[in-house]
Amino acid sequence: MKPMDMVTEQGIRQALGENPFALQVTVAEETDSTNTQLKRLAREGAPSGTVLIARRQVGGRGRLGRRFESPEGGLYMSLLLRPDLPANDVLYLTTLTAVAVSEAVAEVCGVNPGIKWVNDLYLNGRKICGILAEAGFSGDGSRVDYTVIGIGVNVYAPEEGYPEEIRDIAGALYTHDDREEGRRDSLAAAILEKIMEKSHPLDKTAVSRDYKARSVVMGKWVTVCRGDTQRDALVLDIDDENHLVVRYGDGAEEALSTGEIRVKLHQ
Ligand code: BTN
Repeated sequence: MKPMDMVTEQGIRQALGENPFALQVTVAEETDSTNTQLKRLAREGAPSGTVLIARRQVGGRGRLGRRFESPEGGLYMSLLLRPDLPANDVLYLTTLTAVAVSEAVAEVCGVNPGIKWVNDLYLNGRKICGILAEAGFSGDGSRVDYTVIGIGVNVYAPEEGYPEEIRDIAGALYTHDDREEGRRDSLAAAILEKIMEKSHPLDKTAVSRDYKARSVVMGKWVTVCRGDTQRDALVLDIDDENHLVVRYGDGAEEALSTGEIRVKLHQ
């Protein structure tokens, strides 16, 4: 029988071993969006360390309100954290997750994806992972109440290829038939462990350093897309607040924050 490499609760429990962070993992066959479901559980009081994985999502969500295609073959996972952090630090959970996924992929799959600001992972010029972190804040808005960190990794390419809209961008770690039993469970466990280690406690300096070291945009020309306007710019830095510091052709410099901005890397 050909290996399917299905994600299972038991396989992930085994891969987590002693599970020092007491992660509680549930695997569903299909859901709309693991982020949507876990946010609901967070509002109902679910504890930090609750993890929801789906083998398929029918309403997967990406940044800027976009759809995230989630066919069988990927790893679609959301982790609930209740970190004791000021609201201003919430973006570090996204950047540390990008570093965690990149390191976990290197460890489990033996390849080194780079990070495209702010939260996409690229391998050989193609997007292999997207991250969507969503947060709820305390009553006065000054502290983080919960964060749901959603991670979608294209582990195996779909047999029929990616849908038209993302065909030029999306890539996968493996072809559809290059499957190995337990690989996705090991990858899920490695990602979760690394996120927990990096966030307990959060070392902002280390996260920024590791994030920049894995960035594929540092020192590169990109197109900055804001609404309908597009401008080419050179990336000078990613500052401590995770702004992308760029210089345009006319010499003007700007520190971009994630909001409505998208950057396209020049090939
Ligand atoms: C992006 O590329 O813009 C972010 C994509 C995030 C996708 C993951 S898959 C698991 C979780 N559930 C969702 O609906 N989205 C995230």
